[in-house]
Formats: sequence, structure tokens, C-alpha cells
Amino acid sequence: MSRVPLPYNPKILDLFRNPKNLGPMEDATVTAVAGNPACGDMITFYLKISEQEIVERASFESYGCAANIATSSIVTEMIKGLSLEATWKDITWKRVTEEVGGLPSVKFHCGVLAVGALKRAIRKYYEQKGSAPSWLPQDLTFEEKQALEEEELAKTLSKRLKSEAEK
Ligand code: FES
Repeated sequence: MSRVPLPYNPKILDLFRNPKNLGPMEDATVTAVAGNPACGDMITFYLKISEQEIVERASFESYGCAANIATSSIVTEMIKGLSLEATWKDITWKRVTEEVGGLPSVKFHCGVLAVGALKRAIRKYYEQKGSAPSWLPQDLTFEEKQALEEEELAKTLSKRLKSEAEK
């Protein structure tokens, strides 16, 4: 059986081949690991945040597909110099999908994972600080719910494996 290649646009292919800000960040202010239950892929997001709560730098590690690497890469560039509030409000998976020139619909979740990991990192930053600003919603956003923490992901995947084994 031959596999039909996904119709990625040239911008995604370029970002996949030459990702920006790939790799761990030793002096990150906050780090978040998130996984996607749809495919089991994981991503780590690193943010360096200034005292004024501006994103100075961002980087990522991805164990995901080309779409995830491309969207994560573009997110790290889009948020550089933004306040955490602007990052939170402006960076949605739809905006990121537009920014990479569109994704095949079966790959939407890969961009959702990138944004979910980012939002989890911002939420974690305020948890570590012990105080949250009024613009941060108490309830998890769609993207955060889709980007599960490592343990939740492991549980979800093992449940799925069990139920598939019982079929
Ligand atoms: S298929 Fe898992 S992140 Fe794209």
C-alpha cells in the first residue's frame, strides 16, 4: 500500500526543514510539557519571561509531525516581544494555522497542541508566581484541554489501549 503524502504548503515544509528556536532553553522562566490525545505526540515549550511579563525568547522541542514542528516554530516567533496578556489573547490555533498558510484538516490538532503547550506554560508561570491576572480565565481553554499534561496523556493513552485490546 502506498501512502499519499499530505498536501502541506511550501511554508510548512520550509518551517519543518528549518525550524526556528528548536531545542531546550537552559534559563527558561517556565517550561511546559504537553501531549495530544489524538496522536500521542508530545511537545515541550520553553519561555523566557521578563519582569515586565514580556516574552523575551521562546523555544520548543517536538516529538510531533511536520505540522506540529511548523506551527510550534511559528508560535515561538510570533510571541517574541509580546506581553503575556497579548500572547494569551492573540495566539489562537486558528491564527497560527492561518500564519503557516493553512493546514490539512486532519492536522488541525497539531497546531492546537502547539498553542495548548504555550497556554499551559503561561498558566504555569502564574501558578508558580502564586497570583493570576484578571485576564487569565479560571477554566482551561479549548487548546489547553486538548494539550494534556504528561501524566494525563499517559492515562488517556493507556485507557485507550485497554479498551482497544478488549474489542
Ligand atoms: S500528528 Fe501528532 S502532532 Fe501532528
